[in-house]
Amino acid sequence: MSQTMSVNIAPSILAADFSALGAEIGRIRPVADFLHLDVMDGHYVPNITIGVPVVESLRKVSDQVFDVHLMISNPMDFIDSFALAGADYITVHVETLDDPFSALRRIHNAGKKAGISIHPDTPIEAVYPYLAEVDLVLVMSVRPGFGGQAFIPQSCDRISAVRTELIRINNPAIVSVDGGIHKGNASDVVRAGANLLVVGSAVFGAEDPAQAIREIMACATS
Ligand code: DX5
Ligand code: ZN
Repeated sequence: MSQTMSVNIAPSILAADFSALGAEIGRIRPVADFLHLDVMDGHYVPNITIGVPVVESLRKVSDQVFDVHLMISNPMDFIDSFALAGADYITVHVETLDDPFSALRRIHNAGKKAGISIHPDTPIEAVYPYLAEVDLVLVMSVRPGFGGQAFIPQSCDRISAVRTELIRINNPAIVSVDGGIHKGNASDVVRAGANLLVVGSAVFGAEDPAQAIREIMACATS
């Protein structure tokens, strides 16, 4: 099944030049339909990045699918704001919620696609109860908080477990993988069942980010 699904790359702006985000996005737009936006609060993760105003500003200069990844302790308080700012997918971490169902419902009520994400230290089964309600599952393949980390090899088994469970319940949701993705492991994660590859450093750290995306895509689908 994973072989026939369409595969996309979602460049993560975390590795981009924040003084020139519009221009950075312009460079990758011709080859990237998705854009991954990492929101960190310095509490759930030990780093602070961007918030609602940045998403709102980028919405004005990009027609891409905005894949907003909330790495924050209290996502319920911000779902509506990110929806209004122009998010298309809003992904919350299962570890941050007392009641993930209500968060997923809130995202859907705002007219957006709902994603659930899982930290690499959390047993993968923790997302199973919510799989019938999601449009996307984001399997973290590094500890959330920073770009440029090494891919955790066990992530492939976790991707494949999630994809198997989604197939079992007949949900064709996107399985996204986030962290340490590059040309060398892109085909492994796709074979495991991922069809949205979040890539930060390997795109924006490259001299030609658009070419880097083309190359990772070629590896992913080979
Ligand atoms: C990490 C973020 C990732 C990060 C990936 O917490 O969720 O989206 O930007 O960056 P790379 O590709 O550099 O690992
Ligand atoms: Zn992310």
